[in-house]
Amino acid sequence: MVSKLLQYHIISCKYYDNEKELKIIENLCNGFVDKTILEVGCGIGRLSSLITQKGGIYTGLDSNKEFITYCKKKYKGLKFIKSSSDKLPFENEQFDVLLYPWVLPDVKNILPTLREGYRVLKKSGIVICVDGTFIGEYGILIKEFFKKTRMHREFYFKILRDSLISVFRNIQSFDLVKVPYVFPNLKLAAKEIIMELKYLEKLKLTKADEERIKEKLEKFKLDDKVVINETVAFHKCVKL
Ligand SMILES: C[S@@+](CC[C@H](N)C(=O)[O-])C[C@H]1O[C@@H](n2cnc3c(N)ncnc32)[C@H](O)[C@@H]1O
Repeated sequence: MVSKLLQYHIISCKYYDNEKELKIIENLCNGFVDKTILEVGCGIGRLSSLITQKGGIYTGLDSNKEFITYCKKKYKGLKFIKSSSDKLPFENEQFDVLLYPWVLPDVKNILPTLREGYRVLKKSGIVICVDGTFIGEYGILIKEFFKKTRMHREFYFKILRDSLISVFRNIQSFDLVKVPYVFPNLKLAAKEIIMELKYLEKLKLTKADEERIKEKLEKFKLDDKVVINETVAFHKCVKL
């Protein structure tokens, strides 16, 4: 039996434009070929095989044992390690690239995590943080539900930027890019969003909340499909 959280992750990355997001990351890294790449908080390995196909030498790390077991089974031959972002089981200066995709809002204290990242990154190595925002269509759609609990997300970006500057002493670039979710129909779109709020954000949704989500989705219908843009933030730093 797999957990609801794992089920949610498997479903959500089916509908998201993973390739578009990864192309942006690849460009920010000036390519992946022959680079050692550590993804901290690799989840179910959504980006792992794509990075490998583009020539990267990939390692995925996550604190969730079930996710790491899933990754090892699904992506045989790739390297996955169960550990916490603030205790990386690597020597100093091992990696050319450090990726934190959709991870840092879940990390309780960002600074120890970034200091560990700094330690294992080679000199001139690149760090990329990828995060959802509340300014695009998808973010606006779910924002009202977040307000019930995770208020820290309201000031997450300030904490992130302050922490990056404190550890890396630079932010080389900041980009906001629209990346679409394309759902086959309204029912599956609603299912994915409700799963995200219940199992990832651990919110208690009422039946009325669920109905409101379905109503809100009507305006994103495009023929049979439902297309919603997520506005994604990309921060890039370099180890000086
Ligand atoms: C939203 S998922 C993103 C997964 C993946 N990076 C992606 O983009 O598909 C966040 C992941 O971060 C992991 N995570 C959260 N806190 C962590 C920590 N302190 N150390 C390692 N992994 C962590 C979670 O277990 C989860 O798999």
